[in-house]
Amino acid sequence: MAWAQVTEAAMDFGVKQGSLTEVECDVLIVNLFEGLKEPGGATGAVDKALGGAITSRIAEEEFEGKLGDILVVRPCVEFPAKKVLVVGLGKQDELGVPEIMRAAAVAGRKSRELRAKNVASVLHGAGAAGLSPMDCSRAVVFGTMLGTYEFIHWKTEKAKENSIEMFEIVELSAEKFDEIERGIEVAKIIGDAVIFTRDLVNEPSNVVTPTYLADLAQSIAGEGNMRCRVMDRKEFEAEGFGLYAAVARGAAVEPKFIEMRYESPGAKKTVAIIGKGITYDTGGYSLKSSEHMYGMKDDMSGAAAVLAAMRALPQFKPEVNVIGLIPATENAIGNVAIHPGDIFKSYSGKTVEVTNTDAEGRLTLGDAVAYANELGADEIIDLATLTGACVTALGREISGIFGTKQELVDQLIAAGRLTGEQMWQLPLHLDYKEHLKSDVADLRNAERGGPGAILGALFIHAFADDTPWVHIDLSSTVIDKDVHLAKKGSTGIGAGTLIQYLMGYAKG
Ligand code: BES
Ligand code: ZN
Ligand code: MN
Repeated sequence: MAWAQVTEAAMDFGVKQGSLTEVECDVLIVNLFEGLKEPGGATGAVDKALGGAITSRIAEEEFEGKLGDILVVRPCVEFPAKKVLVVGLGKQDELGVPEIMRAAAVAGRKSRELRAKNVASVLHGAGAAGLSPMDCSRAVVFGTMLGTYEFIHWKTEKAKENSIEMFEIVELSAEKFDEIERGIEVAKIIGDAVIFTRDLVNEPSNVVTPTYLADLAQSIAGEGNMRCRVMDRKEFEAEGFGLYAAVARGAAVEPKFIEMRYESPGAKKTVAIIGKGITYDTGGYSLKSSEHMYGMKDDMSGAAAVLAAMRALPQFKPEVNVIGLIPATENAIGNVAIHPGDIFKSYSGKTVEVTNTDAEGRLTLGDAVAYANELGADEIIDLATLTGACVTALGREISGIFGTKQELVDQLIAAGRLTGEQMWQLPLHLDYKEHLKSDVADLRNAERGGPGAILGALFIHAFADDTPWVHIDLSSTVIDKDVHLAKKGSTGIGAGTLIQYLMGYAKG
C-alpha cells in the first residue's frame, strides 16, 4: 500500500541491562529535574564518569531543567557514548506520563538532528511516585516515536530520513525488564497507529480519495481477518442514507461508505467507532473562502483515526466487538451538487433542511450514527473535524469532547492523557436544540451565528437515540507550529485515545 512508502524505516526499540556509564552509543540520553544545580541518581553517575562535565555545563549555560530544555555534552574524557544529551523533566512533583512523553520527544528529535544511529536512554520517571516501569517505558518509546516523526514523502530535495535505527532503554535491575518490555510493546502499537494517522492526514486530497480509504480499509481487514463492506453510491442511496448521499452528490470522485467489523469470541459488548471522512471540504455551494478552504484535506482526520484503530485491534485482541464506520466523500460543488435550502430524508427517517452545505460532516455522521444503532452498537464514539468554532474555543492543541454518558467521556479523556491527546469536555446543552428547528423540515443542519461546536454535536445527537454516545470534535488534528510531540502538520489525534480506550477490554 502507498502509506507503507510514506512511513520511514521503523526504529527498533529495546531494553538493555547495564549501567549508563558503560553503553556504547552515538547519543546517551539522561535527564535533570528543574531547579537542581547538580544531577543526582543515574545522571549523577554519568556526570561523575565525565569528570563533572554535566555539572559545569549546567552552571555555564544556566541550564534550568525546564521540561523539554536540552543540553548536549561532548565527553572530553574516555567515555563509551559519543555525546550525552541532558533533557529537562520540569518540576519533580509535576512529573507524569505526559511530561515524560514530551521530554522523550524532544530528546529523540535532538538525537535525530545529531544524526545518531544508536541511542541509549535512561528510563525517565523511574522511581517517581505513582509511575510503574511500564508507564515510564511506554511514555519514553511513544514520545520518541512521535517526536521524531516528519512527513517527507513529497520532498525530493534536502529531506533526510530518520537516522535512528536502535533506541535502547538502559536499566540496571533485571526485575523491571518484563514491565519495561511490555511498555515498549504497547507504545509500539499505539505509536505506529498515530504515525499511520499522521501520514494519512498529511497526504493531500488528490491522493487520499474515498476510494483510497476504501482500498486501505479492505487491505487492513484482509491482514487482520476482519470483515469489510464497501458501499458505492448506488448501494448507499438504495439503503436510504439520504443525508450522506446529499453531501456526496456533488463529488466527482466516487464516494464510499466503509464498514469494518472486528469480532471477538469473548465479547459482551459492541462499540461503534465512526470517523468523518470528508477527503476535501470546499464547503459546497455555501463555498468557503480561499483562506478557509486551504487545509481542508484534513477533513478526513476522524476516518484516519478509525482506520488506524481498526488496524491495531488484531495486535492486542480486545474482548469486545468493534464496528468501524466511515462515510467517505468530498464536499464539492458542480451542477449536480445540492443547494442550500434542499431537504433530504435521513437514514433514521427524520427530514433535514440543509441550510448550509458547509455543515456537511454532521449530515454524513447523522446517517452513520443511525446505522450504527441499527447494527446494535452498545456504545457509539464519533470523531470529526466538525467545527471551526471548536478551534476558536480550544485552539489547535486541545480537542472538544461531548457525550451522553459521563463515565465514557471520562474514560476517553483519561485514555487521551496517556497518549498525549488533550481533550476538554464541552456541554451538550439540550435547550439549544431549539436552534436546530426548521420551518419546513424536522431539523435544519446549521444556524448562522449559533453556538457552533455545541450545535454540531446536538445535530449528531439527534440520531443517536438512547445509545451511549460520545462525539470528539478534532480541533487539534493539525497544528500550525512545532510542538513537543509533533511537527507542524497532522498530530494524528484520535487514534491513541481510541486504542488506549479499547485496550481496556484486552485480557491481562
Ligand atoms: N470541516 C469544517 C470544520 C473545520 C473548519 C474544522 C476549520 C477545522 C478547521 C466543517 O465541515 C465546517 O465547515 N463547519 C462549519 C459549520 C458551519 C457552517 C455551521 C464551520 O465551522 O464554519
Ligand atoms: Zn468539513
Ligand atoms: Mn464544511
